[in-house]
Amino acid sequence: MGCKITGCGKALPDLTVTNDDLSRVVDTSDEWIVERTGIRERHIAVAETSTDLASRAGAQALERANVSAGDVDLLICMTITPDTVVPSQASMVKARLGLANAVAFDLNAACAGCVYGMEVAANMMEASALAHRDGDAPLRISQGNDMRTALVIGVDRLSRITDWTDRSTCVLFGDGAGAVVLEWDEAAPGILSGFLQNTDDPTLALACAQLRDLGTFPFGDATLDSPGAIMAASLDEVPEELDQGIHPFITMQGQKIFKWASKAMADAVRVVCERAGVPIDEVSLIVPHQANERIISFSAKKLKVPMERIQVSIGTVGNTSASSVLMALADAYEAGRVHEGDNVVLVGFGGGLTLGAILFVA
Ligand code: ACO
Repeated sequence: MGCKITGCGKALPDLTVTNDDLSRVVDTSDEWIVERTGIRERHIAVAETSTDLASRAGAQALERANVSAGDVDLLICMTITPDTVVPSQASMVKARLGLANAVAFDLNAACAGCVYGMEVAANMMEASALAHRDGDAPLRISQGNDMRTALVIGVDRLSRITDWTDRSTCVLFGDGAGAVVLEWDEAAPGILSGFLQNTDDPTLALACAQLRDLGTFPFGDATLDSPGAIMAASLDEVPEELDQGIHPFITMQGQKIFKWASKAMADAVRVVCERAGVPIDEVSLIVPHQANERIISFSAKKLKVPMERIQVSIGTVGNTSASSVLMALADAYEAGRVHEGDNVVLVGFGGGLTLGAILFVA
């Protein structure tokens, strides 16, 4: 309670890649992609960094919230494709936007990132508010970090880790950034409930082994396996490329993810509604992770919620991973689909497997 969403933003790279463009490089067609996924085109960052996209989305959210850079206490960036590992993506954005007083760090929860980031921010803000309310309550957060205003940004350039020769994955993904400003307001209902859950993924239905040992250790042979081999060790059947110890791209067992995600999305929505004491019929809009239009409509059917009450943005952007839910939320606000007092549910799911939802009053 009290954690209010006051501004949203999004940023897309300039280059648009249509299904027809893709059909010139892999054996696919516009018809197949639209029918199976709902995706018609996506934006690919050839000229923009993650820092560029995240900063643009963040600046737009701050402007719409009428918050100045110096007033941001907390910046969380959710990403699996930061420009640099150190400094963190959040540190790069903090410097670019001049958020002089913000504590900044990254969080990786794959495509559920936005929801995880918002939950972490909201909990830090609530702890800070409680500490102040209770005077010298023994809450460590009160000792120096007053968290009244947070900027939460999801950014991914999945094109960096996409195998452009694999038609089963390359048609799905796009690049972009989404952002939201959270402000503490005791009088506002704000975020009423949240839910986070991780389910093990023992067959690595969704994976990407990016990191490698780059240097040569001078005091003997390296004893650790490569990331590819570590991944392969947990699989019953080892794909050839993992057996060789290298696979830097996203790999996915599509049908397995599809089955899990359709049920998980519906489950998460039900949980946040129950926790908030809000019947699903009183939710004005559900804003889900945009992985596949069919996952969204299967879940909607399970929830018995008509598609008019669900935000679907995937057609022009594809699956943009950690940025997807916040980009879709920005679309919903821009289209005038969110009104003051509305109950809105955000729901994300992704690699890990990660699942999360938030119910807030607009
Ligand atoms: N174009 C044409 N044919 C294709 C393509 C393509 N782009 N990709 C696969 N096919 C073929 C397959 O080779 C297969 O051919 P075969 O029958 O001759 O073997 C056929 O189409 C069917 O393949 P399936 O994998 O069974 O297709 P499915 O109906 O499951 O659709 C899809 C694939 C779209 C990937 C679906 O499984 C899906 O959306 N899964 C969930 C994906 C997802 O949401 N991932 C991300 C979630 S988390 C995150 O966001 C990171």
